[in-house]
Amino acid sequence: MSKFEKAALTAVVLLLAVQFIQPEKNQGDYQLKSFLAETQPSNTVKTMLFNACFDCHSNNTQYPWYFQITPLNFRIAHHIEEGKEHLNFSEWSSYNKDQKDHALEEIIEVMEKKEMPLKTYVWLHNEGKLTDAQSQMIIDWAKEAKSK
Ligand code: HEC
Repeated sequence: MSKFEKAALTAVVLLLAVQFIQPEKNQGDYQLKSFLAETQPSNTVKTMLFNACFDCHSNNTQYPWYFQITPLNFRIAHHIEEGKEHLNFSEWSSYNKDQKDHALEEIIEVMEKKEMPLKTYVWLHNEGKLTDAQSQMIIDWAKEAKSK
């Protein structure tokens, strides 16, 4: 075996070995009742939130097949953890009025600046892609919900 072959083989073996190391999954209950009841998104907006936001901003993620791949899964797990820290729709009922208004304000802001959903998510996750018109629908819904 040449040096190169040995190195390549070692790399493959290592890559296979690390596949057994998996991060913890975000698979709790959605618990979105209170959020949906209070902010009343239309079915269209609700579908968009499910497809583009809840994977990182709720207690339940619909995992894609490539989540099985270490180390990609750790990167995804990190995004979910960080996303939930900033905003978790599953914990809506524990937010007070100010926190709810602030969350809706932030949603409007990130949608206007096109910061969400994260770009890397959209690359790998086509359903999460939102057109300008769809983003605008989320903005309109958030403004309406905030004024309630
Ligand atoms: C792939 C995971 C992911 C998806 C999908 C995602 N987010 Fe986020 N979101 C994050 C992360 C990570 C942060 C915190 C870091 C940052 O601001 O970039 C965040 C932050 C936020 C914040 C808070 C911004 C702030 O300044 O505190 C809001 C509001 C938000 N996201 C809304 C949304 C909405 C609305 C959607 C869907 C249209 C969405 N996100 C989709 C991961 C995600």
